[in-house]
Amino acid sequence: MSWPYSLLFNGAFRRMDPERAHELAFSMIERAGKMPVLRDIVQGAVAPYLGQRAGGPGSVRLFGRVVPAPFGLAGGFDKNARAVRGLTMLGFGFVEIGTVTARPQPGNEKPRMWRELDVRGVRNRMGFNNEGAAAAADQLRALRRTAAGRAIVVGANIGKSKVTPPEDAAADYATSARLLAPWADYLVVNVSSPNTPGLRDLQATESLRPILQAVRAAADEANATVSTGAGRRVPLLVKIAPDLADADVDAVADLVLELGLDGVVAVNTTIGHDRGPGGLSGPPLLGRGIEVVARLRKRLGTGPVIIGVGGITRADDVRAYLRAGADLTQGYTSFVYEGPLWASRINRALTRSAGSTASGRLE
Ligand SMILES: Cc1cc2nc3c(=O)[nH]c(=O)nc-3n(C[C@H](O)[C@H](O)[C@H](O)COP(=O)(O)O)c2cc1C
Repeated sequence: MSWPYSLLFNGAFRRMDPERAHELAFSMIERAGKMPVLRDIVQGAVAPYLGQRAGGPGSVRLFGRVVPAPFGLAGGFDKNARAVRGLTMLGFGFVEIGTVTARPQPGNEKPRMWRELDVRGVRNRMGFNNEGAAAAADQLRALRRTAAGRAIVVGANIGKSKVTPPEDAAADYATSARLLAPWADYLVVNVSSPNTPGLRDLQATESLRPILQAVRAAADEANATVSTGAGRRVPLLVKIAPDLADADVDAVADLVLELGLDGVVAVNTTIGHDRGPGGLSGPPLLGRGIEVVARLRKRLGTGPVIIGVGGITRADDVRAYLRAGADLTQGYTSFVYEGPLWASRINRALTRSAGSTASGRLE
């Protein structure tokens, strides 16, 4: 933590309710992202590597795009796709919005987010509070109206609406996919949040198969009819929990290969702790996250994409994920502890030292 942010964190944020602090920080990022002059000055200063859209050192060619830096923002921070420009200004190489559900929903009752200061972690049971897929699609449509907005690599993470029974899950996910596919560079089917009852059961391959097939079909149908989609086949990934047994990780990998999916995002928060309700994130996830990525890479071979996430605090953590077989990486929790320049610090280090990583897709 840099000292100016450490003063702010210890003097103000730490005393505030964590969700309130998140909302405050979020609205500042969102607003700054809407001020073109400020935004361009900040981005030029903190994230010069983002200017190398054609692919500078450390950039990654994926999804038919150049991702300018290998560390991005994980799902859950920008649930409604409102702050993509502001987050890019802070140096994230790409942004995953959501989790978005087909219907707008308030999420679980508060409190639902806690800091775990001793491990620099966060525990949450937010429960997919979001404005719904149509609202997120409106935000992304507006983003894509400008050249700068189109240049940003944006993933859309979709989940099941709480009111939808498990047997109707496929149609629910498909509704979100249909709305978001025209605007997203990739879609993530999230079946790994611990905070929607029964959701993680959908990771079982017999439940997951029809969901992924329905999402694939809906995304293709949407992109065939919406002019911006122009027949583009949006890459489809699935996001899994760190708590899956190794055999179940292998089973998901086999399903990815069977269905010709584009990849896996690993990992979500863990319920393997005794700190209270909700999923734990941050440094305690690092070891298992890397292990799951390595296991996936061995089983998947070189084709499918792996986005490694869980416990990343510094550039060396990203390097460890890339060595284990990830193509890209993401983080969320250490943003809280490291402050606004966190992504820029990591991606500057990585775009300086490209070549020392093992991913074949790195430039
Ligand atoms: C407050 C909070 C909310 C989250 N919400 C989501 C979400 O909506 N969808 C999702 O796929 N992951 C969500 N996550 C999980 C993160 O995307 C990530 O997988 C996990 O936190 C591990 O990364 P980290 O250790 O860098 O935080 C959330 C995490 C936190 C801390």
